[in-house]
Amino acid sequence: MRPLSNRVLGIPRSGIRGVMDLAERLDGVIHMEVGEPHLQPPAHILAAAADATRAGFNKYTPNAGLPSVREVLAHKLRSENGIPATVDTIVMTPGGVFATACAVLTITAPGEEVLLPEPGWPNHGNQLTLFGVKPVYYSLHPSRGFLPDPDELEALTSPRTKAILVNSPANPTGAVFPRETLAGILGLAQRRDLYLITDEVYEKILYEGEHHSPAAWDEDGRVISCFSFSKTYAMTGWRIGYIHASPELCQGFGKLQETLVSCVSSPAQKGAEAALSGSQEFVRQMVETYRGNRDAACRLFTEAGVKIVEPHGAFYLLVDVSSAGLDSYAFMEQLLAAKRVAVAPGLTFGQHCDRYIRISFCKEQDIVVDGIRRILDFLAGK
Ligand SMILES: Cc1ncc(COP(=O)(O)O)c(C=O)c1O
Repeated sequence: MRPLSNRVLGIPRSGIRGVMDLAERLDGVIHMEVGEPHLQPPAHILAAAADATRAGFNKYTPNAGLPSVREVLAHKLRSENGIPATVDTIVMTPGGVFATACAVLTITAPGEEVLLPEPGWPNHGNQLTLFGVKPVYYSLHPSRGFLPDPDELEALTSPRTKAILVNSPANPTGAVFPRETLAGILGLAQRRDLYLITDEVYEKILYEGEHHSPAAWDEDGRVISCFSFSKTYAMTGWRIGYIHASPELCQGFGKLQETLVSCVSSPAQKGAEAALSGSQEFVRQMVETYRGNRDAACRLFTEAGVKIVEPHGAFYLLVDVSSAGLDSYAFMEQLLAAKRVAVAPGLTFGQHCDRYIRISFCKEQDIVVDGIRRILDFLAGK
């Protein structure tokens, strides 16, 4: 048989999915590798989607999504994010992952460059590689609280740069970018005539600081904002997110959706509508649970003398495991075999992250604590 395309062969595997595959073959594993909220979505969302199927929402919708649902999204963006959104500036996508893919595909040509955070979510870089676009990494250094250095960003832009991507609250560091940082990056995008892609899928998972959407200050339609229902409403399997951008860009995203997925599943759109229209108490309680987990996790590691990066948002913790003298992949594999805890190896988030593992704490607290105790035992050679 002829080989697979180089396009596909060239996509590196995300280290997170790789661990999931390894862990699948073992029993009794505590899963701390993947960003999957442990809760089920609230009942009113489930009911809305089920009712929608009975009411006939079983058909294709417009590429961008049902106008009535986009109206609800526009209201949310206006009232909560300060973005002057309308139905024509929103396209619903199959998850946040497809939102960033649409953004990159619509604005770049092969050979162009996009600035990406390092450490960062591996899929951003892998998407660029798939599309023949070059990822150029800007560093989020511990000494700067994992925030970008404006001088470095400026220095990395070249005539081939098409966009800067920012992710706040950030995966894997949990950093929440302050308003000045985001405004500074938007200023750079304006000066250099670049697009700014914002990955805001963790916008509601905040412990300290405030979430800011740069599209609120966008003067000329260069910001492309990507959102998701996955993390906020524990709807990872529904595959639903949305993108906000200028009407012209949205037309481009609509064409892409038409070619690749047609539209987002219509019951999922109705579930998303209910998620935004109904009570937000679920989100508040979920974030409080994660805050408790974050505090417990930080305390356990700190008391044991293990360095961590305290997150202010999202639900991940970077743990410095360099004392084990192993690279992060070897650490992950040996930990999994010895203690049955699956974690993500730091190297998958960036070249300078090999001293870390990333754990997800979006689970019941007793499971988080059990997982951390096993990691501490492993580190102590027990
Ligand atoms: C930074 C970031 N962006 C986007 C996503 C994609 O989420 P989804 O496609 O489920 O909306 C994830 C998932 O982990 C993520 O960590």
